[in-house]
Amino acid sequence: MTTKRLFLKTALSLIAAASGAPAWAADTSPIKIGLILPMTGQSASTGRQIDAAVKLWMAQNGNKIAGRTVEVILKDDGAVPDATKRIAQEMIVNDKVAVIAGFGITPTALATAPLATQSKTPLVVMAAATSSITEASPYIVRTSFTLPQVTIAIADWAAKNKIRRAVTLVADYGPGFDAEKFFDSQFRLDGGQILDKLRTPLRAPDFAPVLQKVIDTKPDALFVFLPSGQGAAFMKQFAERGLDKSGIRLIATGDVTDDDQLADMGDVALGVVNSHHYSAAHPSATNKKFVEAFQAANKGMRPNFMAVGGFDGMRVIYKALETTKGAGGEALLNAMKGQIFESPRGPVLIDGQTRDIVQDVYIRKVERVPSMGNGLYNVEFDVIKAVKDPGKTK
Ligand code: DHB
Repeated sequence: MTTKRLFLKTALSLIAAASGAPAWAADTSPIKIGLILPMTGQSASTGRQIDAAVKLWMAQNGNKIAGRTVEVILKDDGAVPDATKRIAQEMIVNDKVAVIAGFGITPTALATAPLATQSKTPLVVMAAATSSITEASPYIVRTSFTLPQVTIAIADWAAKNKIRRAVTLVADYGPGFDAEKFFDSQFRLDGGQILDKLRTPLRAPDFAPVLQKVIDTKPDALFVFLPSGQGAAFMKQFAERGLDKSGIRLIATGDVTDDDQLADMGDVALGVVNSHHYSAAHPSATNKKFVEAFQAANKGMRPNFMAVGGFDGMRVIYKALETTKGAGGEALLNAMKGQIFESPRGPVLIDGQTRDIVQDVYIRKVERVPSMGNGLYNVEFDVIKAVKDPGKTK
């Protein structure tokens, strides 16, 4: 070996020793995606739905990007914000994840937002839906929806359909405040009157006292937002107190007539008009394929809007990782912005400015669908195209 070649060989092995891999070799380390979901506790259905959707995405799209293996690290936060934050910290520092996804309820996303900014780690919010979440960090991208985005449509529908006096009932935290505020302002703008604004606690709500107030107030309609998982208990009490036969119309966001629970709600849900961005009965080829594959892989479980937020979140992450060849940070964030695709819910865009999702919002009515096993479904009968989140403050 000549002196020159020997020098080159030594120099290269020094570089290799310093970096842990030969300098010229492609990175073959796994690409890690942190997934933080409520797998236990009151919001466990959200975790179950999103976990199943993420697994379906990977079964259909493989686990290789740019020659590297994609690894999803799933951790249960029980929807407790301190736990979410601690898990996110560990994923960033120890696991060196490229991105963190999930976030079943708003407080867990807000608690983790500062970590995303400090570490320049993109956060993909697949479930939580308070408008302000995307403003809590420039590294947050959302594939779920926002409450203002879906609420305006049902307020407009109500005002156009002989509902003059309404009472609102919402869960007492971020998304509930958004739903209450945007229903109130839109309904009054349309000439309606709000007679009362009622709230129930996020944890262990008791609907009896608020339903008694509704009976006493006798509005034309009761508008309701409750987070996914509470709809069935609410409907049961609504029927038990005879409200379904009282002439007071029930209207809602689609969180209440959630596909995860709708099949078991019974006749009380029939005829409930609501607005939302996803129905398992959405009549598109893309959705039919999604629902069939999801049910086949999950013992017949029907996907709900949480599942679609998870499935589309994986789409956004995969396409962005393909662009960056697995690199994270700002490059990954930028590759998520501006993505346009056909989701099971319909066409969607990740707005490059706000990092929030732009999507169609549907007005639906709960009906029995003979062609779908006579099950209860949210049947879409009107659509507002390409709705941006109206809740953004800047
Ligand atoms: C949130 C949670 C839900 O289950 C839902 O249906 C809507 C919003 C939230 O905490 O942001």
